[in-house]
Amino acid sequence: MSSRIDPETVRRILDTADIVDVVSDFVKLRRSGANYKGLCPFHDERTPSFSVNKARNICKCFSCGKGGSPVNFIMEHEQLSYNEALRYLARKYNIEIIERELNDAERQAASDREAMLAVNEFALNHFEHNLTETEDGRNIALSYFRHRGINDAMIKRFHLGYALERSDALYSTAKSRGFTDHYLESTGLCLKSERTNSYYDRFKGRVIFPIHSVAGRVLGFGGRTMRSDKTVAKYVNSPESTVYVKNRELYGLYQAKSAIAKKDKCILVEGYMDVISMHQAGVENVVASSGTSLTQGQIRALRRFSSNVTLIYDSDAAGIKASLRGINLLLAENLTVKVLLLPEGDDPDSFAQSHSASEVEAYLKDHETDIIAFMIEILMRDVSKSDPIARAKVANTILQSVAMVSDQVLRMEYIGECARRLGLSENVVALQLQKFSAVRAEELEKEMRRQQARDVGRDIIPENGENAGKAEANTTPDNIRQESITSSVPDKNLVRAGSNTLLPYERMIMRYVTRYGLTYFCDLADADGNLQPGTVVDYVVADLSMDDIHISDPALSSVLEAVKKLRSDSWPDDRKSIEKEAGEERNRRIEAGHDEIRQVATDIYDIEKRERELAAEADAAYDERLRAFDTDYLQRRLLSSDDDTVRLISTDLISERYVLSKIHTKFAHVESEEEQLSTLVPRAIYELKAAILAGYIDDTKRRLAAVSPSDTETFEKLLRTIVEYQELQKEFAKTMGERIILPKHS
Ligand code: CTP
Ligand code: MN
Repeated sequence: MSSRIDPETVRRILDTADIVDVVSDFVKLRRSGANYKGLCPFHDERTPSFSVNKARNICKCFSCGKGGSPVNFIMEHEQLSYNEALRYLARKYNIEIIERELNDAERQAASDREAMLAVNEFALNHFEHNLTETEDGRNIALSYFRHRGINDAMIKRFHLGYALERSDALYSTAKSRGFTDHYLESTGLCLKSERTNSYYDRFKGRVIFPIHSVAGRVLGFGGRTMRSDKTVAKYVNSPESTVYVKNRELYGLYQAKSAIAKKDKCILVEGYMDVISMHQAGVENVVASSGTSLTQGQIRALRRFSSNVTLIYDSDAAGIKASLRGINLLLAENLTVKVLLLPEGDDPDSFAQSHSASEVEAYLKDHETDIIAFMIEILMRDVSKSDPIARAKVANTILQSVAMVSDQVLRMEYIGECARRLGLSENVVALQLQKFSAVRAEELEKEMRRQQARDVGRDIIPENGENAGKAEANTTPDNIRQESITSSVPDKNLVRAGSNTLLPYERMIMRYVTRYGLTYFCDLADADGNLQPGTVVDYVVADLSMDDIHISDPALSSVLEAVKKLRSDSWPDDRKSIEKEAGEERNRRIEAGHDEIRQVATDIYDIEKRERELAAEADAAYDERLRAFDTDYLQRRLLSSDDDTVRLISTDLISERYVLSKIHTKFAHVESEEEQLSTLVPRAIYELKAAILAGYIDDTKRRLAAVSPSDTETFEKLLRTIVEYQELQKEFAKTMGERIILPKHS
């Protein structure tokens, strides 16, 4: 047993280890702004996406998501345990580790564990003995296994056994060998009856499947009834305990690990019997999740031996759909996932039992499909071609999975595949994917911070600390602007999305355009200088064209064009008939009201007052009806557009969560996004312009840095340009009536 490192030393190691220094031993780093960048050591890549943040002392690959604190990095890179990684760092920094004796509590814990494993070991022998050396065992249990087609070699290999029908068979034998009640109970082998105050065996009368650790220790058992009676549980399993942590173990991994490593592939099935029958058929790289969905701990256990996983499904569709949910976890752990569908009516057990070893091998080889192709196939099966919303939903489910894939080449292939199979343009698919990837990167970053907090053994970053503050900042208009101008937002997205830094701003504008594009916004001057009522889209178009700005993203741009087209082509006429209807309704209402007023009013002043109120009400109802028509009309047309790009992108923009919703809690008087349009829309446009301007400044600075020192003329010209841009920025901010924070540039 390796001794622990005392907490004081742990802290010293964590305080000393410098992320740039630690990573530099393995990765060639280059300075990039406040950070360092290099090629990610965890996956193959040509352009650097591995970023090291010296201030926060963490690293992270924006492509595959790996990284973390110095300890995390070493654990991952050198495949070491936490303690081993600490020792590595201690050696690197010449920090002396004073080896310490275990204290009493630790010694107790260690010996508890050993004691439980000893009881389990005894029970395993006891059950194995029952199976072959007792009459009941042979007659009942052994013949059951024979009946299921399990041979003696497998019985031995998996240490299958039998728990006698007597309720204290194990208990009394264990006691006679000196095992204590305490450990018999904590391992779950025996239970205490409150009624009789005595112990009885958990597995009584069942065939036994022992569950081994990777190292071959017996952690627990599964007991199967031999009755087909539906009223008894088919399986009874050992409870969770300090030795049997269920979400870390995979059934059969001990027996399968060398085959998994050798074939560099692991086949995942559901049940004990599936594993055993497959092994018997000669396919030994098989493990089971024991009927539950895979956990991260299980995946990590498995990944030590291979990063290729094949999931076997029987062809029951409901089961497949349910387990598809677990797949993102596998993809997120950077495993290559394949899927294999068995013939109708077969499970791995029955298939392996009814085919020869070579047939099984051949079937596996020929029927493996890539997971994404499989998902498309399964999910699209019951979606009708004419249901765009359902198709968009499926596309999103699939793309969320693709977003988990960090291998860029594979990703490109998936984009093509998805586009083709889902009948979408690659552009649209890529755009959606970018969004999901950004969300995922956000999650990874949070997870990394949590991990870092855990490393130190205490929360250095409180849950509502820096992180929550950031989220908050995004929700108030003021801070949205500040974020953009300090360029931290585009910077983040630049790293992730790779191409278009302006995308988030363009998206924000298009959000308002798709939701409220036809809503009245303000009066605008027409070509002759006369003021005319203008809609949101009119305003956006006018404002952008003032600075000769175009929406650069092709997909978003085509949505804008679609809105403009609706606005000029069909909407005015369609609206006129509604206006007429609403106007008539208004007049009817007023007329009817007048008669009523005359019957109840007390005097002429009362009549006047009531008539004013009536008119106001009728006007409000008229406005509301038209407003509802405008938003409804636009959204409905966009969502059912026959242009894939327009339909999908606007579905996305319209259904997106109300990002400013936190405002409700902050400013009780602020009602809704729609009521805030007069601030939100100009601000969104302002942000885009600010980002463009910041980009110009950045560019010019880069050019400035490249100018040769002798070329003072160019140097000064560029410098002037920068100053001009910065003046512009300040002016620009003033017109928004707000203070500006200049971009921080290195
Ligand atoms: N399982 C369980 N408890 C149950 C049912 C199932 O723990 N009541 C777990 C077991 O680990 C089982 C796995 O889920 O191995 C898969 O279930 P199933 O397919 O029903 O069992 P098989 O192992 O295939 O057993 P058999 O073929 O004997 O029915
Ligand atoms: Mn089965």
